[in-house]
Amino acid sequence: MTSIESEKKKRTYATAITLAVLLLVVLLTSMPYLVSIALAEGPARGNTADASPIFGVTIPQGYKQWELIAPAEEAAPLDELRAVVGNQTAIDAYQAGKLPFPDGTILVKRAWKRKQSPEFASATIPGAATTVQVMVKDSKKYASTGGWGFGRFIDGKPVDEAQHRTCFACHEARAKSRDYVFTRLAP
Ligand code: HEC
Repeated sequence: MTSIESEKKKRTYATAITLAVLLLVVLLTSMPYLVSIALAEGPARGNTADASPIFGVTIPQGYKQWELIAPAEEAAPLDELRAVVGNQTAIDAYQAGKLPFPDGTILVKRAWKRKQSPEFASATIPGAATTVQVMVKDSKKYASTGGWGFGRFIDGKPVDEAQHRTCFACHEARAKSRDYVFTRLAP
């Protein structure tokens, strides 16, 4: 082997080792990011059987502990008590009066049958839970529906596709100027 050839070989080795080390560094530095993606509990991830048609929205974990935005009442025939709650991103946006809502905002509308208080005749309390309705803001993923993904659930299961086709139309027709959200922060 001439000295030029062996010099060339050495250089090739050196380049290969440098590349391998670089690759390793890239892999190692992105590892926490990859793991966090895999473990993230987002509304759009999880069991697909529990996700809404069209949007793939699921019931967010811990929503029963979320802060109240406003209660509402629905007249007959539904005749329901309701409460709209939001995650921290939603609450922060409401408090700052920020419109449109930032990506990551999640709004949940809880609903119950009306029930007369067993202790006090004129008091109405929540009876059986009827539906859980969810709106998730992701301006890229849901660009064709104002940036919102919708999900409506009964007993933890999403309702059919036809019902999910109605969501955006009604919110768009009446609440477009408020980023498609009806509920205002209760005073
Ligand atoms: C016919 C109109 C209409 C349709 C259809 C509709 N909504 Fe709504 N939605 C409302 C109104 C009005 C409110 C305000 C709160 C209330 O009165 O219950 C609301 C409130 C909400 C909220 C709380 C945030 C906000 O905008 O105030 C969520 C979440 C929600 N709806 C989800 C859904 C989902 C999911 C669907 C489809 C399965 C849907 N909505 C279909 C009228 C509609």
